[in-house]
Amino acid sequence: MKKIAIFASGTGSNFQALIDAVKAGSLNVEVKLLVCDKPGAAVIEKAERASVPTFVFHPKQYASKIEFETIIMNKLQELEVDYVILAGYMRLIGATLLSAFQNRIINIHPSLLPAFPGKDAIGQAFRARVKEVGVTIHYVDAGMDTGPIIAQRAIQLSDNDSMEDVENKIHAIEHIFYPETLESLFNK
Ligand code: GAR
Repeated sequence: MKKIAIFASGTGSNFQALIDAVKAGSLNVEVKLLVCDKPGAAVIEKAERASVPTFVFHPKQYASKIEFETIIMNKLQELEVDYVILAGYMRLIGATLLSAFQNRIINIHPSLLPAFPGKDAIGQAFRARVKEVGVTIHYVDAGMDTGPIIAQRAIQLSDNDSMEDVENKIHAIEHIFYPETLESLFNK
């Protein structure tokens, strides 16, 4: 069974969806660690409730990305983590982790990449008045939401969808699509 670490910065609804899928037996992985770069983020409480160990850090307390990524890398190696799963981790992964986990870092992004990379992808798509939005799961490289695509799922919008409707539709897809995609990638 693959061992994963989940990286997240915020609410953690995708973290929770992965945990729920593990509990339900539809995602066969061992969640070894939550890594969170935002002390106080809601995802931390979700991890504690699920008895997942956490490593919470404040990037500003380190001299460089190399310094905090080296600490994270050592923890991941100690725990024999196979894959790093980003679930709303709002920070670029640096060379230290990229080279230690080549082709083993995966991200979910709430758009049909290459459209709308970066922050507030849902807001960007809503303001552009596109008729189709979606979710992308991809390998992580040094760019912002640029690595090779593993899977995408599209959703059609209707003219009267509010920003909140669009958010809800995208999150609902994410919560099903991420565990499903990881399960088929790891346990085909
Ligand atoms: C998710 O929609 C995820 O796709 C997005 O952040 C949100 C986190 O929500 N990620 C990115 O935008 C990455 N560029 P959550 O904390 O409730 O899982």
